[in-house]
Order: sequence, then C-alpha cells, then structure tokens
Amino acid sequence: MPPAARRRRHRWFCPDAALIPEAPRYPRISTIKSAADFRTRLAALGAVLPCDDEVLQAPSSPLGQPLQVCGRRLGNRFAVQPMEGWDGTEDGLPTDYTRRRWANFGRSGAKLIWGCEACAVVPEGRANPHQLMVSDQTAPGLVELLTRLRDEHRQACGTVDDLLVGLQLTHSGRFCRPSGRLEPIIAYRHPILDRKFGLSDDHPPVSDDYLDRLVDRFVGAARLARQLGFDFVDVKHCHGYLLHELLGARTRPGRYGGSLENRARFLREVVAGIRAEVPGLAIGVRLSLFDMVPFHPDPADTGARHMGRGIPETWEDCLPYHYGFGVAADQPDRPDLSEPLQFVDLMVELGVELLNLSAGSPYYNPHIQRPALFPPSDGYQPPEDPLVGVARQVQAAAVVKARHPSLPTIGTGYTYLQEFLPLVGQAVVRAGMIDFVGLGRMVLSYPELPRDVLEHGRLDRRRLCRTFSHCTTGPRQGMVSGCYPLDPFYRALPEAARLKDLEGSAP
Ligand SMILES: Cc1cc2nc3c(=O)[nH]c(=O)nc-3n(C[C@H](O)[C@H](O)[C@H](O)COP(=O)(O)O)c2cc1C
Ligand code: SF4
Repeated sequence: MPPAARRRRHRWFCPDAALIPEAPRYPRISTIKSAADFRTRLAALGAVLPCDDEVLQAPSSPLGQPLQVCGRRLGNRFAVQPMEGWDGTEDGLPTDYTRRRWANFGRSGAKLIWGCEACAVVPEGRANPHQLMVSDQTAPGLVELLTRLRDEHRQACGTVDDLLVGLQLTHSGRFCRPSGRLEPIIAYRHPILDRKFGLSDDHPPVSDDYLDRLVDRFVGAARLARQLGFDFVDVKHCHGYLLHELLGARTRPGRYGGSLENRARFLREVVAGIRAEVPGLAIGVRLSLFDMVPFHPDPADTGARHMGRGIPETWEDCLPYHYGFGVAADQPDRPDLSEPLQFVDLMVELGVELLNLSAGSPYYNPHIQRPALFPPSDGYQPPEDPLVGVARQVQAAAVVKARHPSLPTIGTGYTYLQEFLPLVGQAVVRAGMIDFVGLGRMVLSYPELPRDVLEHGRLDRRRLCRTFSHCTTGPRQGMVSGCYPLDPFYRALPEAARLKDLEGSAP
C-alpha cells in the first residue's frame, strides 16, 4: 500500500487520529516477524513472557487440554472475558446487538465463557443506561441469550457438555451512570478520583445499611442466574467498581472498612448467602489483582492535535497511599500483591471455585487494565510499550497460580499479543502459569480465533485486534460498542460514519 493510502487508512481506523501522534511510539506487533524477534523485543524491554516457536493444534497444544472445573471436564483452555456492548434497552433487556455478541462468544469455541458481560443487580448500580440488568423482568431476555450462546456453540463444536457459562454480577459504584450522567456511589473519599471526576466536598460514602441490602441483591441475582441455567456467577471485584473499591476502603469506618477482614466482608456475606440459598451454584470472582495510582495525559506532551503520554497523577501529598487495593502505600505507581494474595487465600477458604485475574481500571489507568497501542478518547498515549503491561498481568497471575495450583484461574490482557497470542498462551499454560487464556477485545474482532488455532493451527491476521480502542471510544461518545474497524457488521453501521466525522472534526 502506498504511504499516503496507509496514512488515510490509519486515520479511518483511529477516529481520534487528530489527537494521536502520526506514528505510535512503540513498534507495532505486526512488524515483528518471528518468535525469535519477539523474544528479542521482550528481552530489550525487560518483559518476561514465555513464547513458543510454532502454533500447536489440539490435542497436542496445551491450549487444547481439557481441565476439570466445577465438576465438568472443560474441553480447552480458552476463556471469553466479559465484554459489554452498551447496547441493552433502557429496561436492561438485550437487543439484537447483544444477541449477536453472545452468539459470537458461543461460536468462538472457547470452553469457558466468563460472565458474558457485566449485568447490574440494582438499577442505580448500572454503568450506563444500556447496561443489562438481572431481574425477574429481564429473565426471559437473559435466558434467550444463554440459549443462543449454547446453540451456537453446539453448532460450531458439536457439544456443550464441556462448556461452562457464568453470569457476571456487578454494581458500578463510583462509575454509576444509570441515566447517562455520572451518579457515583462511593465506598470512601478518594483524594485523586474525587477531584478527577468532580465529586462535591460533601458527597457521602455509601452507608453500611445500603451494603447490607446490596448483599441480598447479589444473592437474589445469583438465585435467578441459577434458575435461568447459568453454571456459575461472578461476584465482580475489579476495574474500580464498587466491590473492588471496597477492598481498598482502609479509611472507611464501620463494618465494611478498615481492616482487610472488614473490607472482605461483602464477599464473605455474599458467598454465605449463596451457599445458604442457592446450594450447588458455583461462585467465581473477577479480581483486579493489583492497581496503580490514576494516570492522565502529560500536559507537557499534549498539543492542539496531540494527546499526551500518560503520567501518574501527583501522589506525593497522599502518602501513605491508602486509596487502592494491591498498590504500594509508599510508592503508588507500583503494584503490591501482599493484600491481594491474602484476599485470594480467603477466597480459597470460602470455597470460591473460579478466579479471573485482571488489573487496574479502564477509567483511571487503562494502560494497566487493557494494554493498547492506541488510546481511547478519554485516555492517554501509552506510557510504556504495551507488551510490558501484558507481561505485568501474566506474571502477577502466575504468582497467584503458584500459590494455589488447584484453583482454576483465568488470565487477562492477552489481546495485545496479536500474532503471538497463541504462542505465548500455549507456553504460559504449559508452564502452569495460568489455566485459561482469557480473550477480551480479540473476541470482538475475531471470535473464531480459538477454533482456528486449535483446529487448524493458524490465524487470520486480517482479523486480529490491533488495539485501536474504538470499542471503548464508541461508548465514551454515546454509541454502542463493537469492533468498528474490523467487524463488517459494525463497519456498516451509521455509528461508524459518526466516528469518521469525529475524526474530521477533531481539533
Ligand atoms: C468494550 C469492552 C467491554 C468490556 N466489558 C467488560 C465487562 O462487562 N466486564 C468486565 O469484567 N470487563 C469488561 N471489559 C474488560 C475485558 O474483559 C478485558 O479485561 C480487557 O479488555 C483486557 O483483555 P484483552 O486484552 O483480552 O482485551 C471490557 C473491555 C472492553 C474493551
Ligand atoms: S476490538 Fe476492534 S475496536 Fe476494539 S480495540 Fe480491537 S481492533 Fe479496536
């Protein structure tokens, strides 16, 4: 392709291209030609990731090995991460967009479908007015989604006997937008996030009574999930949402704050409630295993047509930093796994059956949570080669796996590996560093990746997610989420044209 055409194409793929430097500051994965070159790049970055030389097919691939989970022998080691689409009805019911996404999850061939997408247990806990809800009113819609997912899987793979499907239960806490406007429900006052998101000085933390009632709503949602036929529920503790924020509520008084024992009370009570009222339902937890101080674009690096590189918010006046979970108190731009490991020990004691490890938050440090070369419209240029972010997540998850070898554990952050995803994934699983390779954005652009890898030992490079972040920018601009650059279905929507217009109108 001639350089001018390549530039035009790049602009179309990046609606905020006017805010993005002409060329990314780190080598694109697609320019790394071999596994040997990839290992050389990792070594230069000091990023430690195992990487095989050849993609293996099932049954010889470690990714094709079955694993016994929750009494079922799951057929492979791919998991689909929860991916919401901001595309439900205002009543919390699915639409055709939602149905298509869940069908794609089923068609992927992954044998563990983690939660499908965040579903709010109370109306005020929705992250946006189009988030799905779990309630008697939405039950028929959820059943339809689950049935369609299983039907697609059966058609693609021949059986659903080796498939496990959960439902992710959530309350969005600080990031609630039930009517579109930010309506934060916070666990504690946060000196940086309160300022960043414009909370007034008298905005109160949520009461203990509210949390007590919320425990019952999670248990009720779990009961419903079981009746609808889901195999497990995820009591979501990640990405800055309410239950994750509670884990860091050291400065909160009362029964849900202060000691780690108190901060973990919510999970203990939900687990006890589910065991008492929904015996036999498996429980999973998606956890942000570590965190960091919020980041923002460096003003010194930001120009009229140029989004700056991410730098940490000033934290020196917030020490000791008691405002996060899994973040170093004396240097909060670094993770600290000591409390998260104790929390995982507690989960094991409680009999939590599945653990899905993520990190950080898409709202205040997206490069930690979903390593990408191109930032979403409310982000910043990556402050590190995104490969460093992938290695950070993979290595942290391996620490948990080494401590609890028999707890089925799912890893996150693999999409940025692109061509090298199967090579790293199979090496990581073989080394026992994780049980399941979780796929997030990759399932939006290329749902059939697990089947292509395991059945044919190949990848369709044209469909690999290149982390352009449109699936995040779209919703930030009030649109449904989807892979606008690579999925022909979304490319044909009017929203794709609107994203293009935004590109033209950016300063
Ligand atoms: C569009 C979009 C929607 C997401 N929805 C959810 C969600 O509903 N629940 C959740 O726990 N994580 C959600 N995530 C985070 C992903 O599950 C995953 O952790 C993240 O994309 C990193 O994985 P990846 O590198 O494979 O994409 C979402 C991410 C994106 C980009
Ligand atoms: S899934 Fe598509 S829109 Fe989302 S980051 Fe990947 S390429 Fe971009």
